[in-house]
Amino acid sequence: MDTLKEHLSNLVSTSLSSVSGESKCNANVVTTSKPEFGDYQANGGMAIAKKLGSNPREFAQLVVNDLANKSDPIIAKMEVAGPGFINIHLAAIALRDRANSVISNTGDLIPTIPNPQRVVVDYSSPNLAKEMHVGHLRGTIIGDCLVRVLERLGHEIIRQNHVGDWGTQFGMLIAYMNELRAEQGDLPTQLADLETFYRSAKERFDSDPVFAENSRASVVKLQSGDPEYLEVWKTFIDESLQHCHTVYEKLGVSLSRENLKAESFYNSELENIVKVLEEKSLLSISDGAKCVFLPQFTGKDGELLPVIVQKSDGGFLYATTDLAAIKYRSFELDVARSLYVVDARQSLHFQQVFAVAKKAKLADEDISLEHITYGTMMGSDGKPFRTRSGDTIKLIDLLDESSKRAFELVTDKNPDLEEASRKLIADEIGIASVKYSELSKNRTNDYIFDWATMLSFEGNTAPYLMYAYARIKSILRKHNLEIGSQKIATSETTEERTLILKVLQLPEIVAVVAKDCYPNLLCNYLYELAGAFMRFYEACPILKAEDELRSSRLALAALTAEALQQGLNLLGIEPLEQM
Ligand code: ARG
Repeated sequence: MDTLKEHLSNLVSTSLSSVSGESKCNANVVTTSKPEFGDYQANGGMAIAKKLGSNPREFAQLVVNDLANKSDPIIAKMEVAGPGFINIHLAAIALRDRANSVISNTGDLIPTIPNPQRVVVDYSSPNLAKEMHVGHLRGTIIGDCLVRVLERLGHEIIRQNHVGDWGTQFGMLIAYMNELRAEQGDLPTQLADLETFYRSAKERFDSDPVFAENSRASVVKLQSGDPEYLEVWKTFIDESLQHCHTVYEKLGVSLSRENLKAESFYNSELENIVKVLEEKSLLSISDGAKCVFLPQFTGKDGELLPVIVQKSDGGFLYATTDLAAIKYRSFELDVARSLYVVDARQSLHFQQVFAVAKKAKLADEDISLEHITYGTMMGSDGKPFRTRSGDTIKLIDLLDESSKRAFELVTDKNPDLEEASRKLIADEIGIASVKYSELSKNRTNDYIFDWATMLSFEGNTAPYLMYAYARIKSILRKHNLEIGSQKIATSETTEERTLILKVLQLPEIVAVVAKDCYPNLLCNYLYELAGAFMRFYEACPILKAEDELRSSRLALAALTAEALQQGLNLLGIEPLEQM
Protein backbone atom coordinates (compact mmCIF):
# COMPACT_ATOMS: atom_id res chain seq x y z
CA MET A 1 0.00 0.00 0.00
CA ASP A 2 1.33 3.46 -0.84
CA THR A 3 1.18 6.23 1.75
CA LEU A 4 -1.33 9.07 1.51
CA LYS A 5 1.43 11.39 0.41
CA GLU A 6 2.67 8.99 -2.28
CA HIS A 7 -0.87 8.44 -3.50
CA LEU A 8 -1.48 12.19 -3.80
CA SER A 9 1.94 12.80 -5.36
CA ASN A 10 1.18 10.29 -8.09
CA LEU A 11 -2.27 11.72 -8.75
CA VAL A 12 -1.10 15.32 -8.89
CA SER A 13 2.00 14.67 -10.98
CA THR A 14 -0.08 12.80 -13.56
CA SER A 15 -2.42 15.79 -13.80
CA LEU A 16 0.52 18.20 -13.92
CA SER A 17 1.85 16.21 -16.87
CA SER A 18 -1.41 16.09 -18.77
CA VAL A 19 -2.05 19.82 -18.31
CA SER A 20 1.52 20.94 -19.07
CA GLY A 21 2.56 18.32 -21.60
CA GLU A 22 5.82 17.89 -19.63
CA SER A 23 6.84 14.30 -19.01
CA LYS A 24 8.15 14.12 -15.44
CA CYS A 25 6.49 16.57 -13.05
CA ASN A 26 7.31 16.90 -9.36
CA ALA A 27 4.06 17.49 -7.48
CA ASN A 28 5.91 18.50 -4.31
CA VAL A 29 3.15 17.40 -1.94
CA VAL A 30 3.55 18.37 1.72
CA THR A 31 1.29 18.40 4.76
CA THR A 32 -0.35 21.80 5.33
CA SER A 33 0.66 24.05 8.17
CA LYS A 34 -2.93 24.79 9.24
CA PRO A 35 -6.10 22.67 9.09
CA GLU A 36 -7.96 25.49 7.26
CA PHE A 37 -5.68 24.86 4.29
CA GLY A 38 -6.75 21.23 4.09
CA ASP A 39 -4.63 18.18 4.85
CA TYR A 40 -1.98 18.34 2.14
CA GLN A 41 -0.89 20.90 -0.39
CA ALA A 42 0.77 20.46 -3.76
CA ASN A 43 3.35 23.14 -4.49
CA GLY A 44 4.93 21.71 -7.62
CA GLY A 45 2.68 23.46 -10.16
CA MET A 46 4.21 26.89 -9.70
CA ALA A 47 7.64 25.96 -11.03
CA ILE A 48 6.08 24.30 -14.07
CA ALA A 49 3.79 27.26 -14.79
CA LYS A 50 6.78 29.56 -14.58
CA LYS A 51 8.69 27.41 -17.03
CA LEU A 52 5.75 27.47 -19.46
CA GLY A 53 5.24 31.19 -18.95
CA SER A 54 1.64 30.69 -17.79
CA ASN A 55 -0.15 32.36 -14.91
CA PRO A 56 0.47 30.02 -11.94
CA ARG A 57 -2.99 30.41 -10.41
CA GLU A 58 -4.73 29.77 -13.74
CA PHE A 59 -2.43 26.81 -14.33
CA ALA A 60 -3.23 25.45 -10.85
CA GLN A 61 -6.96 25.77 -11.61
CA LEU A 62 -6.54 23.66 -14.76
CA VAL A 63 -4.74 21.02 -12.70
CA VAL A 64 -7.53 21.09 -10.12
CA ASN A 65 -10.10 20.58 -12.90
CA ASP A 66 -8.13 17.66 -14.30
CA LEU A 67 -7.88 16.10 -10.84
CA ALA A 68 -11.59 16.62 -10.24
CA ASN A 69 -12.38 14.78 -13.48
CA LYS A 70 -10.54 11.75 -12.15
CA SER A 71 -12.77 11.80 -9.04
CA ASP A 72 -10.39 9.81 -6.85
CA PRO A 73 -12.35 8.93 -3.69
CA ILE A 74 -9.56 10.14 -1.39
CA ILE A 75 -10.01 13.79 -2.43
CA ALA A 76 -13.01 15.59 -0.97
CA LYS A 77 -12.23 19.14 -1.95
CA MET A 78 -9.49 21.23 -3.54
CA GLU A 79 -8.78 24.91 -3.87
CA VAL A 80 -6.14 27.08 -5.45
CA ALA A 81 -4.46 29.22 -2.82
CA GLY A 82 -1.81 31.92 -2.53
CA PRO A 83 0.49 32.27 -5.54
CA GLY A 84 -0.67 28.90 -6.96
CA PHE A 85 -0.64 26.15 -4.33
CA ILE A 86 -3.30 23.48 -4.49
CA ASN A 87 -4.87 22.75 -1.12
CA ILE A 88 -6.26 19.25 -0.78
CA HIS A 89 -8.89 18.17 1.75
CA LEU A 90 -9.19 14.42 2.15
CA ALA A 91 -12.47 12.54 2.34
CA ALA A 92 -13.33 11.16 5.79
CA ILE A 93 -14.83 7.98 4.34
CA ALA A 94 -11.77 7.15 2.24
CA LEU A 95 -9.53 7.78 5.25
CA ARG A 96 -11.67 5.41 7.25
CA ASP A 97 -11.47 2.75 4.55
CA ARG A 98 -7.70 2.99 4.59
CA ALA A 99 -7.63 2.77 8.37
CA ASN A 100 -9.85 -0.31 8.28
CA SER A 101 -7.63 -1.97 5.76
CA VAL A 102 -4.67 -1.36 8.10
CA ILE A 103 -6.71 -2.75 10.99
CA SER A 104 -7.13 -6.04 9.16
CA ASN A 105 -3.43 -6.11 8.31
CA THR A 106 -1.37 -4.18 10.84
CA GLY A 107 1.81 -4.86 8.88
CA ASP A 108 0.49 -2.25 6.43
CA LEU A 109 0.83 0.45 9.05
CA ILE A 110 4.43 0.77 7.85
CA PRO A 111 4.61 -0.96 4.46
CA THR A 112 7.96 -2.18 3.15
CA ILE A 113 9.31 -0.24 0.21
CA PRO A 114 9.57 -1.52 -3.37
CA ASN A 115 13.29 -0.72 -3.93
CA PRO A 116 15.27 -1.74 -0.84
CA GLN A 117 18.97 -0.94 -0.65
CA ARG A 118 21.93 -2.53 1.06
CA VAL A 119 23.16 -0.14 3.75
CA VAL A 120 26.08 -0.15 6.19
CA VAL A 121 25.44 1.46 9.54
CA ASP A 122 28.63 2.14 11.50
CA TYR A 123 27.60 2.92 15.06
CA SER A 124 28.62 2.68 18.70
CA SER A 125 32.23 1.91 17.65
CA PRO A 126 33.88 2.66 21.01
CA ASN A 127 37.58 2.65 21.69
CA LEU A 128 38.32 -0.60 23.54
CA ALA A 129 41.21 0.78 25.57
CA LYS A 130 38.66 2.22 27.99
CA GLU A 131 35.18 1.56 29.29
CA MET A 132 32.17 2.88 27.33
CA HIS A 133 31.22 6.26 28.77
CA VAL A 134 28.33 8.67 28.31
CA GLY A 135 29.89 10.00 25.13
CA HIS A 136 29.06 6.68 23.46
CA LEU A 137 25.41 6.78 24.36
CA ARG A 138 24.12 8.99 21.57
CA GLY A 139 25.91 7.16 18.78
CA THR A 140 24.79 3.79 20.08
CA ILE A 141 21.15 4.80 20.51
CA ILE A 142 20.80 6.82 17.30
CA GLY A 143 22.49 4.07 15.29
CA ASP A 144 20.22 1.44 16.81
CA CYS A 145 17.13 3.48 15.91
CA LEU A 146 18.27 4.01 12.32
CA VAL A 147 18.97 0.30 11.93
CA ARG A 148 15.47 -0.51 13.17
CA VAL A 149 13.85 2.05 10.86
CA LEU A 150 15.77 0.97 7.77
CA GLU A 151 15.23 -2.72 8.44
CA ARG A 152 11.53 -2.18 9.02
CA LEU A 153 11.26 -0.64 5.56
CA GLY A 154 12.91 -3.69 4.03
CA HIS A 155 16.47 -2.44 3.52
CA GLU A 156 19.29 -4.91 4.01
CA ILE A 157 21.38 -3.61 6.89
CA ILE A 158 24.98 -4.49 7.63
CA ARG A 159 25.88 -3.34 11.12
CA GLN A 160 29.54 -2.42 11.61
CA ASN A 161 30.96 -1.88 15.07
CA HIS A 162 34.21 -0.17 14.05
CA VAL A 163 35.84 -0.44 17.49
CA GLY A 164 39.26 1.04 18.20
CA ASP A 165 41.47 -1.92 19.10
CA TRP A 166 44.82 -0.92 17.68
CA GLY A 167 47.40 1.80 18.26
CA THR A 168 50.05 2.83 20.73
CA GLN A 169 47.90 2.84 23.87
CA PHE A 170 47.52 -0.93 23.57
CA GLY A 171 51.27 -1.30 24.08
CA MET A 172 50.89 0.33 27.47
CA LEU A 173 47.92 -1.85 28.34
CA ILE A 174 49.73 -5.02 27.31
CA ALA A 175 52.78 -4.06 29.37
CA TYR A 176 50.50 -3.53 32.37
CA MET A 177 48.68 -6.80 31.70
CA ASN A 178 52.02 -8.60 31.65
CA GLU A 179 52.99 -7.11 35.00
CA LEU A 180 49.74 -8.11 36.64
CA ARG A 181 49.73 -11.53 35.02
CA ALA A 182 53.11 -12.28 36.53
CA GLU A 183 51.40 -11.97 39.93
CA GLN A 184 47.86 -13.20 39.23
CA GLY A 185 47.72 -15.36 36.12
CA ASP A 186 45.69 -14.88 32.92
CA LEU A 187 42.86 -12.57 33.96
CA PRO A 188 43.97 -9.95 36.49
CA THR A 189 41.12 -8.82 38.76
CA GLN A 190 41.77 -5.21 37.78
CA LEU A 191 40.14 -5.95 34.38
CA ALA A 192 36.75 -5.77 36.07
CA ASP A 193 37.00 -2.00 35.83
CA LEU A 194 38.70 -0.89 32.64
CA GLU A 195 38.56 2.75 33.59
CA THR A 196 40.76 2.17 36.63
CA PHE A 197 42.85 -0.30 34.70
CA TYR A 198 43.62 2.32 32.08
CA ARG A 199 44.32 4.99 34.66
CA SER A 200 46.70 2.77 36.64
CA ALA A 201 48.55 1.79 33.46
CA LYS A 202 48.83 5.45 32.50
CA GLU A 203 50.18 6.34 35.96
CA ARG A 204 52.82 3.63 35.61
CA PHE A 205 53.65 4.92 32.14
CA ASP A 206 54.07 8.52 33.29
CA SER A 207 56.08 7.74 36.42
CA ASP A 208 58.28 4.79 35.49
CA PRO A 209 60.65 5.13 32.51
CA VAL A 210 61.33 1.38 32.46
CA PHE A 211 57.62 0.67 32.19
CA ALA A 212 57.27 3.32 29.46
CA GLU A 213 60.08 1.68 27.53
CA ASN A 214 58.39 -1.68 27.99
CA SER A 215 55.15 -0.23 26.64
CA ARG A 216 56.83 1.06 23.52
CA ALA A 217 58.55 -2.28 22.98
CA SER A 218 55.18 -4.01 23.41
CA VAL A 219 53.60 -1.98 20.58
CA VAL A 220 56.42 -2.97 18.28
CA LYS A 221 56.06 -6.64 19.27
CA LEU A 222 52.29 -6.49 18.84
CA GLN A 223 52.42 -4.78 15.47
CA SER A 224 55.04 -7.16 14.16
CA GLY A 225 52.69 -10.01 14.99
CA ASP A 226 54.48 -11.62 17.96
CA PRO A 227 52.14 -14.50 18.97
CA GLU A 228 52.67 -14.04 22.70
CA TYR A 229 51.83 -10.34 22.59
CA LEU A 230 48.93 -10.94 20.24
CA GLU A 231 47.54 -13.41 22.74
CA VAL A 232 47.69 -10.91 25.64
CA TRP A 233 46.16 -8.25 23.42
CA LYS A 234 43.32 -10.62 22.41
CA THR A 235 42.58 -11.39 26.05
CA PHE A 236 42.34 -7.70 26.82
CA ILE A 237 40.14 -6.96 23.77
CA ASP A 238 37.87 -9.82 24.61
CA GLU A 239 37.40 -8.55 28.16
CA SER A 240 36.73 -5.05 26.93
CA LEU A 241 34.17 -6.27 24.41
CA GLN A 242 32.43 -8.19 27.17
CA HIS A 243 31.96 -4.85 28.95
CA CYS A 244 30.44 -3.35 25.79
CA HIS A 245 28.04 -6.21 25.34
CA THR A 246 26.81 -5.89 28.91
CA VAL A 247 25.89 -2.31 28.04
CA TYR A 248 24.29 -3.31 24.72
CA GLU A 249 22.21 -5.92 26.44
CA LYS A 250 21.03 -3.48 29.06
CA LEU A 251 20.13 -1.02 26.34
CA GLY A 252 18.44 -3.61 24.13
CA VAL A 253 20.80 -2.72 21.31
CA SER A 254 21.11 -5.41 18.67
CA LEU A 255 24.88 -5.31 18.15
CA SER A 256 26.49 -8.74 18.34
CA ARG A 257 30.03 -10.01 18.02
CA GLU A 258 29.31 -10.79 14.39
CA ASN A 259 28.90 -7.10 13.70
CA LEU A 260 32.41 -6.41 14.87
CA LYS A 261 34.76 -4.98 12.26
CA ALA A 262 37.50 -3.63 14.43
CA GLU A 263 40.22 -1.27 13.20
CA SER A 264 42.71 -4.17 13.30
CA PHE A 265 40.64 -5.98 10.65
CA TYR A 266 42.00 -3.51 8.09
CA ASN A 267 45.70 -3.79 9.07
CA SER A 268 46.75 -5.91 6.12
CA GLU A 269 45.18 -3.45 3.68
CA LEU A 270 46.78 -0.23 4.93
CA GLU A 271 49.99 -0.46 2.95
CA ASN A 272 47.98 -1.01 -0.18
CA ILE A 273 45.84 2.08 0.51
CA VAL A 274 48.98 4.21 0.64
CA LYS A 275 50.18 2.58 -2.57
CA VAL A 276 46.93 3.40 -4.36
CA LEU A 277 47.17 7.03 -3.26
CA GLU A 278 50.74 7.11 -4.48
CA GLU A 279 49.79 5.67 -7.87
CA LYS A 280 47.05 8.26 -8.24
CA SER A 281 49.69 10.96 -7.52
CA LEU A 282 47.74 12.19 -4.54
CA LEU A 283 50.52 11.85 -1.96
CA SER A 284 52.83 14.58 -0.70
CA ILE A 285 55.46 14.35 2.00
CA SER A 286 55.09 16.85 4.81
CA ASP A 287 57.48 16.73 7.80
CA GLY A 288 58.34 13.20 6.75
CA ALA A 289 54.70 12.05 6.83
CA LYS A 290 52.73 10.91 3.82
CA CYS A 291 49.72 13.17 3.34
CA VAL A 292 46.94 13.97 0.91
CA PHE A 293 46.12 17.64 0.42
CA LEU A 294 42.86 18.51 -1.31
CA PRO A 295 42.18 22.12 -2.31
CA GLN A 296 38.73 22.25 -0.67
CA PHE A 297 40.17 21.69 2.83
CA THR A 298 41.90 24.76 4.15
CA GLY A 299 42.57 26.17 7.62
CA LYS A 300 41.94 29.64 9.04
CA ASP A 301 44.79 31.24 7.15
CA GLY A 302 43.98 29.52 3.89
CA GLU A 303 46.71 26.89 4.36
CA LEU A 304 45.89 23.43 3.00
CA LEU A 305 44.90 20.86 5.64
CA PRO A 306 46.49 17.41 5.34
CA VAL A 307 44.96 13.96 5.60
CA ILE A 308 47.89 12.10 7.10
CA VAL A 309 47.98 8.47 6.03
CA GLN A 310 51.44 7.36 7.18
CA LYS A 311 53.70 8.85 9.81
CA SER A 312 57.41 9.27 9.32
CA ASP A 313 58.04 6.19 11.52
CA GLY A 314 55.89 4.11 9.16
CA GLY A 315 52.82 3.96 11.42
CA PHE A 316 49.37 4.25 9.85
CA LEU A 317 46.57 6.46 11.14
CA TYR A 318 42.86 6.61 11.89
CA ALA A 319 42.26 8.08 8.41
CA THR A 320 44.17 5.26 6.69
CA THR A 321 41.97 2.70 8.41
CA ASP A 322 38.85 4.58 7.43
CA LEU A 323 39.95 4.67 3.80
CA ALA A 324 40.41 0.90 3.93
CA ALA A 325 36.99 0.55 5.54
CA ILE A 326 35.37 2.65 2.82
CA LYS A 327 36.95 0.47 0.17
CA TYR A 328 35.74 -2.68 1.93
CA ARG A 329 32.20 -1.37 2.37
CA SER A 330 31.99 -0.10 -1.17
CA PHE A 331 33.49 -3.01 -3.09
CA GLU A 332 33.29 -6.08 -0.80
CA LEU A 333 30.01 -5.37 0.92
CA ASP A 334 28.79 -3.54 -2.18
CA VAL A 335 26.43 -1.18 -0.36
CA ALA A 336 24.47 1.77 -1.77
CA ARG A 337 24.78 3.83 1.41
CA SER A 338 27.30 3.84 4.22
CA LEU A 339 26.18 5.70 7.35
CA TYR A 340 28.64 6.79 10.04
CA VAL A 341 26.87 7.61 13.28
CA VAL A 342 29.75 9.48 14.91
CA ASP A 343 30.28 12.57 17.07
CA ALA A 344 30.15 15.92 15.23
CA ARG A 345 33.71 16.64 16.33
CA GLN A 346 34.89 14.16 13.69
CA SER A 347 33.16 16.11 10.94
CA LEU A 348 36.30 17.31 9.20
CA HIS A 349 37.84 13.83 9.38
CA PHE A 350 34.88 12.31 7.53
CA GLN A 351 34.57 15.08 4.96
CA GLN A 352 38.23 14.56 4.20
CA VAL A 353 38.30 10.77 4.00
CA PHE A 354 35.09 10.72 1.94
CA ALA A 355 36.61 13.18 -0.53
CA VAL A 356 39.94 11.35 -0.70
CA ALA A 357 38.19 8.00 -1.16
CA LYS A 358 36.11 9.26 -4.08
CA LYS A 359 39.05 11.03 -5.67
CA ALA A 360 41.28 7.94 -5.40
CA LYS A 361 38.44 5.67 -6.54
CA LEU A 362 38.66 3.75 -3.28
CA ALA A 363 34.87 4.01 -3.29
CA ASP A 364 32.32 3.45 -5.98
CA GLU A 365 31.19 6.69 -7.62
CA ASP A 366 27.57 6.10 -6.64
CA ILE A 367 27.98 5.10 -3.01
CA SER A 368 26.43 7.57 -0.63
CA LEU A 369 28.82 8.21 2.28
CA GLU A 370 26.96 9.99 5.07
CA HIS A 371 28.29 11.25 8.37
CA ILE A 372 25.33 11.21 10.76
CA THR A 373 26.66 13.72 13.26
CA TYR A 374 25.55 14.30 16.81
CA GLY A 375 26.37 16.89 19.42
CA THR A 376 27.82 16.50 22.90
CA MET A 377 25.90 15.58 26.00
CA MET A 378 26.15 18.45 28.49
CA GLY A 379 25.48 18.65 32.22
CA SER A 380 23.08 21.25 33.62
CA ASP A 381 26.09 23.57 34.03
CA GLY A 382 26.43 23.65 30.24
CA LYS A 383 29.75 21.78 30.33
CA PRO A 384 30.32 18.23 29.04
CA PHE A 385 28.54 15.80 31.33
CA ARG A 386 30.90 14.49 34.05
CA THR A 387 30.92 13.32 37.65
CA ARG A 388 31.32 15.90 40.40
CA SER A 389 35.01 15.12 40.61
CA GLY A 390 35.33 15.78 36.87
CA ASP A 391 35.66 12.16 35.74
CA THR A 392 33.86 10.77 32.73
CA ILE A 393 30.72 8.87 33.66
CA LYS A 394 30.63 5.20 32.80
CA LEU A 395 27.67 4.34 30.64
CA ILE A 396 26.73 1.35 32.74
CA ASP A 397 26.55 3.53 35.87
CA LEU A 398 24.33 6.04 34.13
CA LEU A 399 21.88 3.32 33.08
CA ASP A 400 21.76 1.85 36.58
CA GLU A 401 21.14 5.28 38.02
CA SER A 402 18.25 5.80 35.61
CA SER A 403 16.58 2.56 36.68
CA LYS A 404 17.07 3.52 40.32
CA ARG A 405 15.43 6.88 39.82
CA ALA A 406 12.59 5.31 37.84
CA PHE A 407 12.04 2.85 40.70
CA GLU A 408 11.46 5.71 43.12
CA LEU A 409 8.97 7.26 40.70
CA VAL A 410 7.06 4.04 40.13
CA THR A 411 6.94 3.38 43.87
CA ASP A 412 5.57 6.88 44.38
CA LYS A 413 2.84 6.31 41.81
CA ASN A 414 2.05 2.69 42.67
CA PRO A 415 3.08 1.97 46.26
CA ASP A 416 0.81 -1.10 46.45
CA LEU A 417 2.37 -2.91 43.52
CA GLU A 418 4.67 -5.81 44.40
CA GLU A 419 8.30 -4.86 44.55
CA ALA A 420 9.31 -7.25 41.76
CA SER A 421 6.75 -5.71 39.39
CA ARG A 422 7.81 -2.21 40.33
CA LYS A 423 11.39 -3.17 39.61
CA LEU A 424 10.50 -4.58 36.20
CA ILE A 425 8.52 -1.49 35.22
CA ALA A 426 11.28 0.78 36.53
CA ASP A 427 13.96 -0.98 34.49
CA GLU A 428 11.90 -0.50 31.32
CA ILE A 429 11.09 3.13 32.06
CA GLY A 430 14.64 3.88 33.15
CA ILE A 431 16.22 2.69 29.92
CA ALA A 432 13.41 3.98 27.70
CA SER A 433 13.74 7.45 29.25
CA VAL A 434 17.45 7.69 28.59
CA LYS A 435 16.93 6.52 25.01
CA TYR A 436 13.99 8.75 24.29
CA SER A 437 15.61 11.87 25.67
CA GLU A 438 18.55 11.30 23.30
CA LEU A 439 16.37 10.54 20.31
CA SER A 440 13.84 13.32 20.79
CA LYS A 441 16.42 16.10 20.42
CA ASN A 442 17.69 17.28 17.07
CA ARG A 443 20.85 15.19 16.99
CA THR A 444 23.08 17.88 15.51
CA ASN A 445 22.84 20.05 18.63
CA ASP A 446 24.58 19.60 21.96
CA TYR A 447 22.00 18.77 24.57
CA ILE A 448 21.56 19.14 28.30
CA PHE A 449 21.17 15.90 30.16
CA ASP A 450 18.52 16.34 32.82
CA TRP A 451 17.02 13.56 34.93
CA ALA A 452 13.91 15.48 35.95
CA THR A 453 12.78 16.22 32.39
CA MET A 454 13.52 12.81 30.94
CA LEU A 455 11.72 10.93 33.70
CA SER A 456 8.70 13.23 33.74
CA PHE A 457 5.25 11.82 32.99
CA GLU A 458 4.41 15.05 31.22
CA GLY A 459 5.70 16.45 27.96
CA ASN A 460 7.54 14.83 25.11
CA THR A 461 9.06 11.99 27.16
CA ALA A 462 9.18 8.21 27.24
CA PRO A 463 7.12 7.92 30.46
CA TYR A 464 4.37 10.08 28.92
CA LEU A 465 4.16 7.99 25.76
CA MET A 466 4.44 4.69 27.58
CA TYR A 467 1.74 5.79 29.94
CA ALA A 468 -0.51 6.88 27.05
CA TYR A 469 -0.04 3.45 25.50
CA ALA A 470 -0.75 1.57 28.74
CA ARG A 471 -3.87 3.66 29.25
CA ILE A 472 -5.28 2.73 25.84
CA LYS A 473 -4.43 -0.90 26.48
CA SER A 474 -6.30 -0.83 29.78
CA ILE A 475 -9.39 0.61 28.04
CA LEU A 476 -9.20 -2.16 25.46
CA ARG A 477 -8.81 -4.83 28.15
CA LYS A 478 -11.89 -3.55 29.93
CA HIS A 479 -13.86 -4.13 26.74
CA ASN A 480 -12.06 -7.28 25.77
CA LEU A 481 -11.04 -5.86 22.45
CA GLU A 482 -8.24 -7.14 20.27
CA ILE A 483 -7.02 -5.27 17.21
CA GLY A 484 -8.67 -6.62 14.06
CA SER A 485 -11.88 -7.74 15.75
CA GLN A 486 -13.75 -4.48 15.10
CA LYS A 487 -13.81 -1.89 12.34
CA ILE A 488 -14.08 1.87 12.44
CA ALA A 489 -17.65 2.61 11.36
CA THR A 490 -17.95 6.34 11.93
CA SER A 491 -15.64 9.28 11.91
CA GLU A 492 -18.04 12.19 12.23
CA THR A 493 -16.20 14.25 14.79
CA THR A 494 -13.11 16.30 13.95
CA GLU A 495 -11.23 14.46 16.67
CA GLU A 496 -11.90 11.07 15.12
CA ARG A 497 -10.96 12.25 11.66
CA THR A 498 -7.80 13.96 12.92
CA LEU A 499 -6.71 10.87 14.81
CA ILE A 500 -7.27 8.57 11.81
CA LEU A 501 -5.28 10.88 9.56
CA LYS A 502 -2.47 11.07 12.13
CA VAL A 503 -2.22 7.27 12.37
CA LEU A 504 -2.09 6.95 8.59
CA GLN A 505 0.80 9.42 8.43
CA LEU A 506 3.17 7.18 10.42
CA PRO A 507 4.83 5.64 7.32
CA GLU A 508 5.46 9.10 5.84
CA ILE A 509 7.45 10.07 8.92
CA VAL A 510 9.33 6.77 8.92
CA ALA A 511 10.31 7.35 5.28
CA VAL A 512 11.76 10.76 6.13
CA VAL A 513 13.70 9.33 9.09
CA ALA A 514 15.14 6.62 6.82
CA LYS A 515 16.26 9.23 4.33
CA ASP A 516 17.52 12.07 6.52
CA CYS A 517 18.30 10.13 9.71
CA TYR A 518 16.63 12.43 12.24
CA PRO A 519 14.90 10.22 14.83
CA ASN A 520 13.52 13.29 16.63
CA LEU A 521 10.95 13.60 13.82
CA LEU A 522 9.52 10.23 14.80
CA CYS A 523 9.49 11.25 18.48
CA ASN A 524 7.62 14.47 17.65
CA TYR A 525 5.16 12.50 15.59
CA LEU A 526 4.46 10.01 18.40
CA TYR A 527 4.01 12.83 20.87
CA GLU A 528 1.46 14.45 18.54
CA LEU A 529 -0.24 11.12 18.00
CA ALA A 530 -0.64 10.62 21.75
CA GLY A 531 -2.00 14.18 21.97
CA ALA A 532 -4.51 13.51 19.18
CA PHE A 533 -5.63 10.41 21.05
CA MET A 534 -6.11 12.33 24.32
CA ARG A 535 -8.26 14.92 22.51
CA PHE A 536 -10.30 12.17 20.85
CA TYR A 537 -10.73 10.39 24.17
CA GLU A 538 -12.00 13.55 25.85
CA ALA A 539 -14.34 14.55 23.03
CA CYS A 540 -15.69 11.13 22.06
CA PRO A 541 -17.07 9.10 24.96
CA ILE A 542 -16.43 5.39 24.62
CA LEU A 543 -18.08 3.92 27.69
CA LYS A 544 -21.31 5.86 27.34
CA ALA A 545 -21.61 5.41 23.57
CA GLU A 546 -24.18 3.09 21.96
CA ASP A 547 -22.95 -0.38 20.95
CA GLU A 548 -21.99 0.34 17.37
CA LEU A 549 -20.41 3.70 18.08
CA ARG A 550 -18.56 2.22 21.01
CA SER A 551 -17.00 -0.60 19.03
CA SER A 552 -16.03 1.82 16.28
CA ARG A 553 -14.25 4.08 18.74
CA LEU A 554 -12.61 1.12 20.43
CA ALA A 555 -11.33 -0.01 17.04
CA LEU A 556 -9.79 3.42 16.52
CA ALA A 557 -8.26 3.27 20.00
CA ALA A 558 -6.78 -0.15 19.20
CA LEU A 559 -5.34 1.16 15.95
CA THR A 560 -3.76 4.09 17.80
CA ALA A 561 -2.18 1.73 20.32
CA GLU A 562 -0.79 -0.31 17.46
CA ALA A 563 0.73 2.80 15.83
CA LEU A 564 2.22 3.91 19.16
CA GLN A 565 3.71 0.49 19.73
CA GLN A 566 5.19 0.14 16.26
CA GLY A 567 6.57 3.68 16.44
CA LEU A 568 8.11 3.17 19.87
CA ASN A 569 9.61 -0.13 18.74
CA LEU A 570 11.44 1.73 15.98
CA LEU A 571 13.01 3.86 18.70
CA GLY A 572 14.06 0.70 20.53
CA ILE A 573 11.36 1.05 23.19
CA GLU A 574 8.97 -1.76 24.10
CA PRO A 575 6.00 -0.11 25.83
CA LEU A 576 4.43 -1.91 28.79
CA GLU A 577 0.87 -3.21 28.68
CA GLN A 578 0.33 -2.08 32.24
CA MET A 579 1.99 0.62 34.26
N1 ARG B 1 36.44 4.55 17.65
C1 ARG B 1 36.13 5.88 17.21
C2 ARG B 1 36.01 6.81 18.42
O1 ARG B 1 35.80 6.34 19.53
C3 ARG B 1 34.86 5.96 16.40
C4 ARG B 1 34.85 5.17 15.13
C5 ARG B 1 33.78 5.60 14.19
N2 ARG B 1 33.78 4.92 12.94
C6 ARG B 1 34.68 5.08 11.97
N3 ARG B 1 34.56 4.36 10.88
N4 ARG B 1 35.65 5.96 12.07
O2 ARG B 1 36.12 7.99 18.25
